[in-house]
Order: sequence, then structure tokens, then C-alpha cells
Amino acid sequence: MIHRAWLRNQGLPGDVFDGRPVIGICNSWSELTPCNAHLRDLAQHVKYGVLEAGGVPFEFPVMSLGETVMRPTTMLYRNLASMEVEESLRASPVDGVVLLCGCDKTTPAMVMGAASVDLPTAVVSGGPMLNGKFQGRNIGSGTSLWTMADDVRAGRMGLDEMLSAEAGISRSAGTCMTMGTASSMAAAMEVMGLALPDNGAIPAVDSRRQMLARETGRAIVGLVEAERPLSSIVTRASFENALRVNAALGGSTNVVIHLLAIAGRLEISLTLDDIDRLNRDIPLLANIMPGGAYLMEDFYYAGGVAAILRELGRHIDGNAATITGTLADTLSGVRNWNDDVIRPLAKPLKPEGGVAVLRGNIAPDGAVIKLATIDPALQRHRGPAVVFDGVADLKARIDDPALPVTADSVLILRGAGPRGYPGMPEAGSLPIPRKLLEQGVTDMLRLSDARMSGTSGGSVILHAAPEAAAGGPIGLIEDGDIIELDVSARRLLLDVPDAELERRKRAAPRSWAPVYTGGYADLYTAHVEQADKGADFDFLKGRRGAQVPPAH
Ligand code: FES
Repeated sequence: MIHRAWLRNQGLPGDVFDGRPVIGICNSWSELTPCNAHLRDLAQHVKYGVLEAGGVPFEFPVMSLGETVMRPTTMLYRNLASMEVEESLRASPVDGVVLLCGCDKTTPAMVMGAASVDLPTAVVSGGPMLNGKFQGRNIGSGTSLWTMADDVRAGRMGLDEMLSAEAGISRSAGTCMTMGTASSMAAAMEVMGLALPDNGAIPAVDSRRQMLARETGRAIVGLVEAERPLSSIVTRASFENALRVNAALGGSTNVVIHLLAIAGRLEISLTLDDIDRLNRDIPLLANIMPGGAYLMEDFYYAGGVAAILRELGRHIDGNAATITGTLADTLSGVRNWNDDVIRPLAKPLKPEGGVAVLRGNIAPDGAVIKLATIDPALQRHRGPAVVFDGVADLKARIDDPALPVTADSVLILRGAGPRGYPGMPEAGSLPIPRKLLEQGVTDMLRLSDARMSGTSGGSVILHAAPEAAAGGPIGLIEDGDIIELDVSARRLLLDVPDAELERRKRAAPRSWAPVYTGGYADLYTAHVEQADKGADFDFLKGRRGAQVPPAH
């Protein structure tokens, strides 16, 4: 009686408690997460669908992670938000859940939490913003912003122009309209079968996004009635398909880290070696920034994720499950409507679009590089290191005219990994030093234990593991050491004899004091795993289920 009586204060008639499916709508809406600020509207459409299918919906909030405004970095809070989702779901009397997510970390956080509980689960992503516009041309959030920031630093763009671009870049509700982390993860949700077809691409303000939300509300009721938990949909095949599609999309390097973490929650074996293998023979098909020229609106009109799946054909396991059937079922009638935006498999934009996993004495546990955006001239490279110890050191010295740097140098940032910062910020796409920008240099090799924004590009090696703060060899590099990269051999070497590295380790043991400490940050640094394991907390891995002991 107490459960029913209190819930009825929202105007619910008594017969809604007749045993029909109770659906939680787990919402990461927040005005401080601009990319998710429209999700309360979308939740309404999920509710309509739940009611139409005979369920009863309850919307509830969880911690939201606004990529552009949170400090010191949203990744610090991904695991915290996942804990909130997990505990909210387990503690609440819901039979199934629809996750409303969008901005970069909200998707993995919510899916990680839901995976540990393993109820019937569906995802609705917020969808991308309309194309950015400036001076009659398209501009992409993130990607164009980084370029314009360099233009401002090099004196090629004035303040007025910058402010005008600022007003035109985010013209509507939604997530970044490049193939950044939000769009890459939304595509992964579609491919992994947790979201309905077109979830990966419909613009946030297109009415078809609301229709998708409504249909998801109907679908989740069916999932509950069929007793199909999340783990019955997402299998090893789902991860393999998602990684191959991410390669064809030229998607975010962050997808690697998030999928490793989700697999860890589901107790599915997935390693960096698997990821390298799955990416190897997949060309870049999506001509979308940052690896291409178009934006997400164009991608949707060209056919979206389904058209990519169709192009990939034999590379995809069509038997993989979705919330409505199989992946193959979703592809009937799908066509590629614009083969410049979505390239056919026989005419790709680049021969490889995914992520290569590099190994060697700098990163014994692996590092990643985005093949869609690497300068071909830098795929094999030897150059002297210019080392920065942490983000503050980088900011203080990168534009120093006396910095001993040339276009052949390799910029190194360390102390910015999961434990070191803490939270592994998106600082890995180090800015080109101003004096090189002024010489016309637009790309150079960069290496770090940090991450980078999915909207970033360039020749950037990321996620070096172990990180410096965990004793990784990246912490032993000195200015002038020669760094050698050979992408085709997947090799990343520090050309310094082992004996000298041993000497450095003994001579100058370093401590990498985190810039942010106390409270939750201390829990984070004590329990976060390295990037090659997905940077989840050691105590959160695995499926703990939905059961709780009775309260009374
Ligand atoms: Fe939210 Fe890019 S900042 S999706």
C-alpha cells in the first residue's frame, strides 16, 4: 500500500498497478549539459510509447556530464555517474529502463551502470545539432573550433570573426554534429542493438527523433514482457560489429575506452589486440569531420549508420541481436543516398579508418592512434622528443618562442592519464606551438597518456599505458630522446638503451601528484584501472544483477 499510495500523488489511477510493466526513463537532462538540454522533451515521447504499449513510465534524473563545461574533466565522473545509474536502477521498482543520453560520457556511463544491473534496457540518444554555419559554409563543432583556435593564435583570425563563428556553431539542440564521441557512441548503440535504427544520426530537432523515442517506449514494454535483459542483446558479436562500424565512420578513439569498460561490466572478453584486429581491414567510408568533409545532418540524409552497415556487408555479423530482432532485419530496404558522404566499400575515403594499437617500450600495454586523421607522411617517423610534465606545464611553455621544437619534433604530454591528472582529460591533441603555426605547420606527431576529443584529428598517439603516474615508461622520456613510430608495424619505440632507462628509473623516481584531490577524486585515483582496461573502477567490473534484499 505504501508504494502505491505515494506514487499515486502524481495522479495515477489505481489500475496502473495491476502488474503491467513499470518502465524507468533514466534521464541525463541538465541545463548544464547543453547537448542534453532537450532530453526532457524527448522523455515525453518515450512516455507516450510506453503508455501506448500498456506499460507505466516513471522518469527519473541521474548525474549529467556536460563535456564543455565540467571541470577538471568529465571522464573523472563517468564512473561516478555509472554508479548512480546502477544503484538507482537496482533500488527502484522498475522492470525495464530507457536510457536518455547524448553528450560524450553520458552514454557510456549510463550503459555501464545498466549493464551491471542487467534489466531489459533500451537507449535513446539525443541526436546531433544541425550543421554549424559560418560565412556561408559548414563548420563542425569541435573540429572547426580547434582549427579556428589555431587561426586566432597564429593571427589569421580576428576576435570579431571568432565571435561570429561562436554564434553559428551550435544552432540547435543536440550533440556535436561532427563524428565526435557522442555521435560515435550513438552509432555504437544502434549497431549493438540497444537503440532503434537511425538512432545514430537523426538530428536532435528532426521530428523523426521524437518518433524514434516513442517507438523505443513501445519496444521496451515488449522487451520486459519477453524477459530479455540487456545481456541477451549485447554479446561479443555486438562489440565486434560496433568496432568495425566505428572504423568505417572514422569514429572517436574514446569509443575504444568506453567499449572496453562496457565489456568489463558484461564480463565479455575484449582486449586492445582484439580491437586492433577488428579495425585492420576496415576502410574509412564516412566522409564526416574530423576524418572527412561533411557533418552529421548530411550523414543522416545519406542513409546514416544503416547505410554504413549495408556497405560493410560481409564484415558485419547480421545475426547479432537488437531490441527488435536481429541486425540483419534492420537493413532491408536500406540504401546509400549519397556516395560522396558515405563512400562505397570499393571507393573508400581512406584505406583504413579505425584505430591502430601501437606497442613498444614506451607503451608496453598499448597506445592508440586514429588512422582516419593521421598525416600519411607521419605514419613512419623518427623525431626528437619535446616533453611536457602535465597540462599546466604544457600551457605555460607551448607558445614560448624559445621552445626547442621543429616540425619533426614529437610533442610528449605525460601526467595526464587516468590516475595522473586525475581523469584522463582530452588534452592529448597538444596544440601546435605558435612559432610552428606561424611557419605554416598544421600537424606534427604528438604522444600522451591522455585522451583527445572525438572531434579532434591529427597525428596523435593517445592512451599510452601504463601512464606515467602508474610507473609507465612514458615518464622516463627526456627532451631530445628519439621517438620512432611505424604505424604499419604497430610499433612505438623510445630509442634509448634499456640500461639507460633503468638508470633513469633509479636516479630520479618521479611522483606525479594529481592536480585534483580529496573526496571522490581520492576514491577515483585509488581504484581506476589503466586505459587499456577501459579506465573503470576495479570494484565496478561485472554484472551484479537487479536483486536487492527486501527493505522491510
Ligand atoms: Fe556534448 Fe560534444 S560537447 S557532444
